[in-house]
Amino acid sequence: MIRTENLYKYYSSHVRHEVRAIQNINLNIPRSSFVVFNGPSGSGKTTLLNVVGTLDRPTEGRVFMYDEDITAFSDIALSRLRRGKIGFIFQDFHLIPRLSGWENVSYPLIPLGIDSKRRYERARELLEKVGLGDRLDHTPEELSGGQQQRVAIARALINNPEIIIADEPTSNIDEETSGLILEILRELKTRGVTILVATHDASFEKVADVIYTLKNGKLL
Ligand SMILES: Nc1ncnc2c1ncn2[C@@H]1O[C@H](COP(=O)(O)OP(=O)(O)OP(=O)(O)O)[C@@H](O)[C@H]1O
Ligand SMILES: [Mg+2]
Repeated sequence: MIRTENLYKYYSSHVRHEVRAIQNINLNIPRSSFVVFNGPSGSGKTTLLNVVGTLDRPTEGRVFMYDEDITAFSDIALSRLRRGKIGFIFQDFHLIPRLSGWENVSYPLIPLGIDSKRRYERARELLEKVGLGDRLDHTPEELSGGQQQRVAIARALINNPEIIIADEPTSNIDEETSGLILEILRELKTRGVTILVATHDASFEKVADVIYTLKNGKLL
């Protein structure tokens, strides 16, 4: 499903030395697996998820998805791939401030030309699933951290993704909400979704099919 070959990402600037954020990463992730990445702060987890998730390009190496070398894709082809196949959940939610819960959730459907009534219905269904059926019209600032993360999860699911990429999805929220998020991800896995999570949450590590530890940009 997802494969990487000798993946490197360097960051450089005029004033600082080059940072080798990830080095020589070779992964082979079958469909429907639950993969956890852990490792200390700065070890390259976010960089790796961003490169694998097509949000960033590697300095060297290749990423394959569905046996296609997506490193060769244009930006437009990559955004089409993301829109069709990948759902993202970020540590700091990345919700749009002035939009209501249902508008945030259904936002990715706008470029697909889906009308507002259908967008609303689909968003409502997903927000009910994450226990926020009574918060459809609340804006992010009117929601708690855990509620914002649940809105972000509903948004990640709006395109029925085949791949979920979650960067520390539970580090800013309470234990009960973390448990709900883990349950949702587990259920998606049983339906064939491939899940990649960067986390230190031990409850995620318990259900993972494989745990990769990063240190100084390398897989241990
Ligand atoms: N845009 C950037 N420019 C320069 N260096 C960067 C950039 N992004 C990340 N880095 C560096 O790359 C390394 C890996 O960072 P990354 O964010 O991937 O780590 P992480 O494992 O996700 O850490 P954390 O657990 O704190 O989220 C760090 O040394 C960081 O300083
Ligand atoms: Mg990170």
